[in-house]
Amino acid sequence: MKTRKIKEHIYWMGSVDWDSRLFDSLIPLPDGTSYNAYLIEGSEKTALLDTVDPPMDQELMEQLEGIPKIDYIVSQHAEQDHSGIIPQVLKKYPGAKLISSPKAKGMLIDLLQVPEDSFKTVEDGETLSLGDKTLKFIHTPWVHWPETMVTYLEEDRILFSCDFFGSHIATTDLFVADEGRVYEAAKRYFAEIMMPFRSIIRKNLEKLAPYPIEMIAPSHGQVYPNPKFILDAYHDWVNGPSKNTVVLPYVSMHESTKLMVDHLVSALVEKGVRVELFNLAVTDIGKLAMALVDAATIVVGTPTVLAGPHPYAAYAAFLANALRPNTKFLSVIGSYGWGGKTVETLAGMIPNLKVEVLSPVLCKGVPSEDAFKALDDLAAAIAQKHKEHGFT
Ligand code: FEO
Repeated sequence: MKTRKIKEHIYWMGSVDWDSRLFDSLIPLPDGTSYNAYLIEGSEKTALLDTVDPPMDQELMEQLEGIPKIDYIVSQHAEQDHSGIIPQVLKKYPGAKLISSPKAKGMLIDLLQVPEDSFKTVEDGETLSLGDKTLKFIHTPWVHWPETMVTYLEEDRILFSCDFFGSHIATTDLFVADEGRVYEAAKRYFAEIMMPFRSIIRKNLEKLAPYPIEMIAPSHGQVYPNPKFILDAYHDWVNGPSKNTVVLPYVSMHESTKLMVDHLVSALVEKGVRVELFNLAVTDIGKLAMALVDAATIVVGTPTVLAGPHPYAAYAAFLANALRPNTKFLSVIGSYGWGGKTVETLAGMIPNLKVEVLSPVLCKGVPSEDAFKALDDLAAAIAQKHKEHGFT
């Protein structure tokens, strides 16, 4: 794609990646993604903000063919999908200075072997004049690495935010056209990489509050001409109360656990509790992560395999522990053949979750009437807990 104009002297560059379906060999990309770089032409100096993922290098380098001089390359985040071709860009513009946070400098040297004398590091709140345009660098750590910063273009009131507020969507729309679609993708992205740092992100949002922001230009996905939409969504995700929802990831081998899961789902729904159900044998792990953002309760459904939880259930527990959702309650249900330590093993895998554990329901073989009664009791206990906490 060719360079696209956002405003006078401000341009989108980069690449729309329609084909990728997995990021970092971990995160599903059902809608592809984009790697956005931005060119800002001041009356005296020109700056390029971020670059693209190395496999897409040709596209950005071709877009730069018509740009005779770049004075500053701003690296807002050292991860290679944005920094990966900084060495190529520096080679094309040997006089350019690489602007980064002090922490990013070390990371860029480690990851890309950028020469140390290329750098000009900027402190939190420092400004850089391009003539009639001024870049202000605001350190916003842990969105989602420790070195991350955003760039506020003062005269145009545009916030360039890199991963912060980003979404993985491949589209020809430069600006957000369908807020519902972007909400879903941005929430998925928040869940997958930012949820563990929600308290720090809350502080970053507070830090941005004094700035009048007319547009947010992230380095994945579309530009927000109505930034309130995504700022409000982030406020909800970091501050919002948990919802009257049970996230129920499960796996079943011979249908006994599935019978228990189905029974529990019906019992919860009858009591007015919303359920998000994920069959771990086929689920999109990003959807599971997204559901964890605001659910009050997790119930893991697993058979016992070799004396412990099924590996898929262990994976879901490991993921939940790493993502540190704000979940309040947890339980385990499932069937076993002769014995095991499924609950103890799963409980040991989630030290990061500050949850109250509700009585697990395990049964031997096919669930009996007693097992179904225990599931009804679990549903009642969950509904009561949600009611007591005012989750809606
Ligand atoms: Fe889009 Fe953390 O890189």
